[in-house]
Amino acid sequence: MTLATHIVGVGGYLPERIVTNAELAARVDTSDQWIRERTGICQRHLAAEGECTSDLAAAAARKALKMAGISIEDIDALVVATTTPDLIFPSTAASVQSKLGGVGFPAWDIQAVCAGFVFGLAQLDAMMRAGMFKRVLLIGAETMSRILNWNDRSTCVLFGDGAGAVVLESRNRADGSGGVIGSVLHSDGAHRDLLKAHYGDGAPSNTPDFHTDAAGVAAIEMRGNEVFRIAVKSLSGVVGEVLAANGLTESEVDWLVPHQANLRIINAISKRLSLPAERVVITVGFHANTSAASVPLALSHLQETGKLERGQLLLLESFGAGFVWGANLVRWSL
Ligand code: ACO
Repeated sequence: MTLATHIVGVGGYLPERIVTNAELAARVDTSDQWIRERTGICQRHLAAEGECTSDLAAAAARKALKMAGISIEDIDALVVATTTPDLIFPSTAASVQSKLGGVGFPAWDIQAVCAGFVFGLAQLDAMMRAGMFKRVLLIGAETMSRILNWNDRSTCVLFGDGAGAVVLESRNRADGSGGVIGSVLHSDGAHRDLLKAHYGDGAPSNTPDFHTDAAGVAAIEMRGNEVFRIAVKSLSGVVGEVLAANGLTESEVDWLVPHQANLRIINAISKRLSLPAERVVITVGFHANTSAASVPLALSHLQETGKLERGQLLLLESFGAGFVWGANLVRWSL
């Protein structure tokens, strides 16, 4: 039996609190105009005190389960893509499993920063086509606000908190066409210093006094210009690569569902694909860069608009620290 992996439910969750560009301008030397012009971001959502990545993830997962018309008892595996876990261990996925009332099935995290959801979809598609699981929850969830230096204008304006989830179901290919067509993934660790989040001088494995207050607080450091340039180049390459590998062309793409980091990066990729603006999902304006949550949040937004039709070809792509980058092709089948 040949199997295919279908997306049968999708849901997004953004925390209640909205922080506008103007509010940030009152805190650091920036302006609404600068942020909009350079990034397309107008506002971001921030998790409430005590609200963790697993809470956001569970909220998005409940919506995806509802849309799929199933409950947690029907799930065979749960994966959370995150770079802002609740704890170093256990995994955030284990917390989400418990918060959703699930027991027994495997739950684990994926760390591929902003590309975590795209990596997760590729990984789970392969496992599901091998017959390991029938129904799986894949969630991208982040509380980026917790690892930002709120005095650094070059990074604090860029990120937000949120979560997006999908329910994946493996079906006999003979039962109908569609589902995940293929994925391409890449990494290049040579660029790891261009974008990183550290805790004090490092992290548990290279900070001798990590367990003391002397280790400091977590913060993102980024050389934005260089990240921008390599992101555009890498994403342009990978979207062409995934299309070619699956015998498809740019003109066949119905929806580009890109990582929502910066409107200028998204525009560069849609230009590369010659896609008209109305075929590109853009949500970065109202929730900023939510890292691993951004692609499933964009997919959830697209689904909510009611414009998504059975048989349409979706191209998902993302790029993140490492660097890591990748793309998935999905034929919508609902
Ligand atoms: N408000 C006002 N001025 C600012 C701000 C700010 N928030 N941040 C930086 N500036 C200043 C800089 O200090 C600099 O001033 P100077 O010329 O006096 O030195 C000036 O603006 C220009 O800075 P650049 O870094 O050259 O600005 P650029 O046009 O490259 O835009 C940005 C910066 C938005 C960060 C851009 O480089 C970018 O988006 N890079 C990609 C980063 C990204 O998306 N990272 C997320 C993770 S990876 C990913 O998800 C793709």
